[in-house]
Amino acid sequence: MGYPVSHSRSPVVHHLFAMQTGQNIQYELLQVSPEKLETAVRQFQRTGGKGLNITVPHKSEVAKLVDHLSERAATAGAVNTLAFRGGEIHGDNTDGIGLLRDIVVNLGVSLEGANILVLGAGGATRGIIGPLLEMQPKSLIIANRTLGKAEALAEHFSHSGTVSACRFNAVPVDEVYNLIINATSAGLTGEAPPYPAAAISKSTICYDLSYGLKPTPFSIWAREAGAARSVMGWGMLVEQAAESFNLWRGIRPDTAAVLKQLSVTV
Ligand code: ATR
Repeated sequence: MGYPVSHSRSPVVHHLFAMQTGQNIQYELLQVSPEKLETAVRQFQRTGGKGLNITVPHKSEVAKLVDHLSERAATAGAVNTLAFRGGEIHGDNTDGIGLLRDIVVNLGVSLEGANILVLGAGGATRGIIGPLLEMQPKSLIIANRTLGKAEALAEHFSHSGTVSACRFNAVPVDEVYNLIINATSAGLTGEAPPYPAAAISKSTICYDLSYGLKPTPFSIWAREAGAARSVMGWGMLVEQAAESFNLWRGIRPDTAAVLKQLSVTV
């Protein structure tokens, strides 16, 4: 469920998982406006639906409808997965673990002791900060157009002692960043913000949470600025989906195989 939702590639991913694991599922896109969210979720539950993925702009609102909220969803302040079990709604968030699996397992990047720069301070950023901090980076800087939002997020995670905030034009460049993540929604409009080119070195991995059939503005910018690698979020899409699929069906798909299939299907 999302609004809009037609851009989502999740049905392709879940159908590939179902084929691979021999599960008989139906997974479809449901466009639901914010004022109809509660009715749509309850109706889905009544008619025997087993699970939902929830996307923009409903991820925080839907948390109010769940009976049980996982710890990672509570930290993220957002829910992307609902599971209906025994008349109760369980809310979880698989985005953070999906991103980490893609970075650490698929891309083979260790984040322990790393310097991380996150661009953007909206819902997507809030969802990934907790999981990133669990990897024990040396520093995590949140840069945002609106400084106050980055500061509020840094304050929220201040117990870690590693998170700080700044504007795009004030990103410190005295140390090399191992990882730069684009979590702004700027690419969706095609308008690129003043990304800090000086923050990229030839050993920096740049990761765009957005994905597209064509390279995103951020991924083009990162390649041109000389990053070691410039990656779009297809891996995160598949990994968060696998985690949700496992919650619903109790079986974990082989994500590497599906990522390979996706590169030829989409
Ligand atoms: P999401 O849930 O996708 O994170 P969001 O909560 O609306 O969406 O946050 C969007 C993020 O993209 C914000 O960090 C926003 O910056 P502001 O906090 O300054 O609004 C950022 N963003 C969106 N369009 C942008 C643009 N054209 N230039 C720079 N930042 C942009």
